[in-house]
This record gives sequence, structure tokens and C-alpha cells, in this order.
Amino acid sequence: MNMDGITSKNIVQMDEKSIKIGWRAPANIALIKYWGKRANQLPENGSLSITLENSFTTTFLSIRKKDKADGAIGMKYYFHGALNQKFGKKIDQLLSHLQTEMPFLSDYKLIFHSENNFPHSAGIASSASSMAAVALCLVSMEQIVTKMKQSNKDFFRRASAIARLGSGSATRSLYGGIVTWGAIASIEGSSDKYATPFPLHELSRLKQTRDIILIVNSKEKQVSSSLGHAMMVAHPYREGRKNQANSNLNEFIKSISEANYQLIAKIAENEALSLHALLMTSSSGTILLQPNTLQIIEEIKKFRESTGLDLFFTIDAGPNVHLIYFEEQREMVLQLVKDKLMRYCENGLWIDDKIGNGPKLLTPEFVI
Ligand code: DP6
Repeated sequence: MNMDGITSKNIVQMDEKSIKIGWRAPANIALIKYWGKRANQLPENGSLSITLENSFTTTFLSIRKKDKADGAIGMKYYFHGALNQKFGKKIDQLLSHLQTEMPFLSDYKLIFHSENNFPHSAGIASSASSMAAVALCLVSMEQIVTKMKQSNKDFFRRASAIARLGSGSATRSLYGGIVTWGAIASIEGSSDKYATPFPLHELSRLKQTRDIILIVNSKEKQVSSSLGHAMMVAHPYREGRKNQANSNLNEFIKSISEANYQLIAKIAENEALSLHALLMTSSSGTILLQPNTLQIIEEIKKFRESTGLDLFFTIDAGPNVHLIYFEEQREMVLQLVKDKLMRYCENGLWIDDKIGNGPKLLTPEFVI
């Protein structure tokens, strides 16, 4: 993670009244799934994810002091150059939620310009990286306008908590590597309010994790994650899910320290299938898996049985499959994609990604 230099020298001072702040924030893929939430965007269970390297959002926030403070928040959110009402509404909600703890927000006009480097049609959830980038810009703004001094640790923790208010999975996009979110007894300092980076041993194979995202269908899903979380409130398996997720998370953490990659694979796949089982057994009877998703799962299992490689799949709330494997298996895995998996992808589309380093403050050269 690039935590260097969160200082005003990295922020472009456009003129006396205007300031521009830029951050890049990564997407993440959960292996232990956050599914179900309480008031204030607090999770029903702990989750764990891998931060990605190649899929990210770049966001610039321009702030300009109003000539006359009017107590109202004025914000515009542009996505790839066009005003985006849908995501803008989410940011508006976030800003009004923050107004008490960030009273300076209404003293400025805020304009966000945001872009994803992954295609919109790729089916990667963009709310995690987008919200994380927005949260980083807001905490940088806070630091500049209030002239507060803050350690890097406090800075990212605050950004993680603010990202959570915008979108739960965004909480984890504030750190690189493996990240957990939720109060977990075995992780010191962990909380339901913000994420915690998971320390990996220098020699852990997880440091070599790679992710091939197989795009079965690139259309926006019919059921938003927020609706999916809401359906958990009255779900007949609600309590069972909480217990399952917490026990999977604890086992997963133990497996990391014991370098038990077979168990890691088993737990991650159980999580992905459980998420979809919960969707299917909710009152809406939502089915997001598609025939080609199942074909890919079958091929991955067959390949694992025949080669003995400890790779595995995970799936978010959609039809696309993440094939998680390790660097040393790359050649064989690329062959598998070419020979057996690509045919199930929409227009043969797949994305090559890997474990990443976390957010990056953009330098002035980038900003101008
Ligand atoms: C299946 O973070 O998208 O990806 O908090 O309502 O914005 P909101 O939901 P969101 O839910 C993500 C759910 C998931 C699992 C995960 O990322 O942990």
C-alpha cells in the first residue's frame, strides 16, 4: 500500500479558494462474504477479501469555498465525464449523513470526477472502489480544511469507516493484500465499523494470489446487493448464516496460519455457494447463477481433481466467476482458460487480476 506522503504537498492548490485531491482505490473480491446488515451499515457477520491490483477507480475531488455559506451541501458527481445521478444520489446520502461530523462540507462546492479502469460491462462491482475513492478524497479534504494532524493508520481507518457508510464492501478497499471487516476475536483492533489489514507471513503463498475473472454476463444484475442484504432480515436461515459465516471466517484465518490451502479453497467455495443458496431461498427467489456459471464451476472442479492444484472459485452476487489461484500455477491455469473456460464467457471476455497493494494518492503530475 502506498501510504507515503499524505501531506498537503501532494494536493494541488489550484488557486486561493480551490483545491483538487486525487485518489485511486482498488476493487476487492470477498472470500468470506458480507451478507446481511444492521442499522448504520454494520455487518451481520465478519468478512474477508482480497484487494485487487488491476481493477480500480480513479477519483478527483475539486473543492471551492463558497462566497457565502448557506448551510446546504452542493455536490456534483461525474462518472467518465457525464453527470451520474444514480451514484450521485448515494454520495448525497453519504454527505448528509456526514454533515454533523464534517460541518465544513457545506462551506464548499464539491465536484467529483471519477473513472473506472475496468470496463463498465465487466460485471465487477464498482461500488466498492468508487466509494473507497470518495471516502479517501473526503478524509483528505477534512485534513486540509481543518488542518488536523493524523497518523496514516488513523487516516485509513477513518476513510474505511466513511466508505462503509456508502457501501459495505467499500470498507475493505482501503487496504492492500488480505483484509477483514468486522469485530473478530482473533484479530486485534478489529471492528464492525472499519476494516483491518490482515498480516500475511512473508512466505505466505497468499501473497502470490491471482484472480481470473470469467465474465459470463456483463449486464447489470437485476437485484442490487442492498436489496439482497435487506432480504436477509426476514430470511429463514438468517441465524444459521451468521453462525456459518463466523465459523468459516475463523476456520479460514486458522487455515492461513497453518498454510492449509486445501481448506482455504473449500471454505471459499462454500461461502460463494452459500451466498447464492441464500439468494435462491429468500422471499424473492433470486437466481443469479447462469448455465455457463455452472459449466465453469464444473470445469474448475474437474481440473482440480485431475491436477491436484489447490485453486478454487468464488462468485459475488452475479453470474461471473473468479478463479483464484497462485502465481506458480499460472501457465497451467492460462491453458485451462484458453482450452475450457473462455468458451463460457460472453464474447470470450475475462480479466486478469491479482492481489494488490491498496489505494494510492495521486501525485501532482497526475492531477494537473
Ligand atoms: C456479495 O457492499 O455491495 O459482494 O453495503 O448495500 O452497498 P451495500 O452492499 P455491498 O454488498 C456486497 C456483497 C457481496 C459480498 C462482499 O463483498 O462481502
